[in-house]
Amino acid sequence: MKKPIVIANWKMYIEKPEVAKKFITTLKRHSALLSKVEVTIAPPFTLIPILSTLVTSTKGITLAAQSVSAYTEPKHTGEVSASMLRGCGVQTVIVGHSERRAAGESEVVIAAQLQASYKAQMNVVVCVGEIERDTHGSHFSLIEKQLSVVAGHVKGKLIIAYEPVWAIGKSAGDAMKSSDIQEMVIFIRKTLVDILGREAALKVPIIYGGSVEGSNAHELLKEGGAGGFLVGHASSEINSFIEILQACL
Ligand code: PGA
Repeated sequence: MKKPIVIANWKMYIEKPEVAKKFITTLKRHSALLSKVEVTIAPPFTLIPILSTLVTSTKGITLAAQSVSAYTEPKHTGEVSASMLRGCGVQTVIVGHSERRAAGESEVVIAAQLQASYKAQMNVVVCVGEIERDTHGSHFSLIEKQLSVVAGHVKGKLIIAYEPVWAIGKSAGDAMKSSDIQEMVIFIRKTLVDILGREAALKVPIIYGGSVEGSNAHELLKEGGAGGFLVGHASSEINSFIEILQACL
């Protein structure tokens, strides 16, 4: 059995360096958990250099960025490139999060972010997910379209995070049913086989995100068939995050 992957997407929940450092220091004490779960922390850009040494010196935890610039050349105000992140010890970038898509990031941008990230030798998490569902199953064709962005661009480790937008930022009772997660994981795997070929597609972890908390994580992981979680609000408080990690064992 592969180790479950749990990515903490802090969004803007944790702002202060002291709070972030205390979170990591506490997490480090749970070495038994860190040996059984692959933990990645995605802090906001401002906290990355502050956490870099603390995280990179800890076995079992790695750093991710919540987004990355689509550009590689320096003449872009306000952007943070993949190579800048790499220089701060970041190994993974998240692209295509629904909150970034809602802010205007198109599939053209996501494809450029993928290329820029692989060029800087990063792992890439591509988020996909429908805004709502209808009875005609149109979410399947939307997910297929969102996944097609990876075609021809995969040059390193890829993770797909399936996050139905309607289930994000709520509480455990509003998460997707595990039987529906299982159906979508199978669909994503099949679509990846069509895009990448069987051998490459079987290597891609597919994780779930959307109102994962300590109380539902065990059932969602065991019955949903995903390889782990992308966790938002419940990853911003150390005790609730530890509960999720424990539920993954
Ligand atoms: P949530 O967020 O866990 O707060 O639902 C998940 C995400 O947006 O990645």
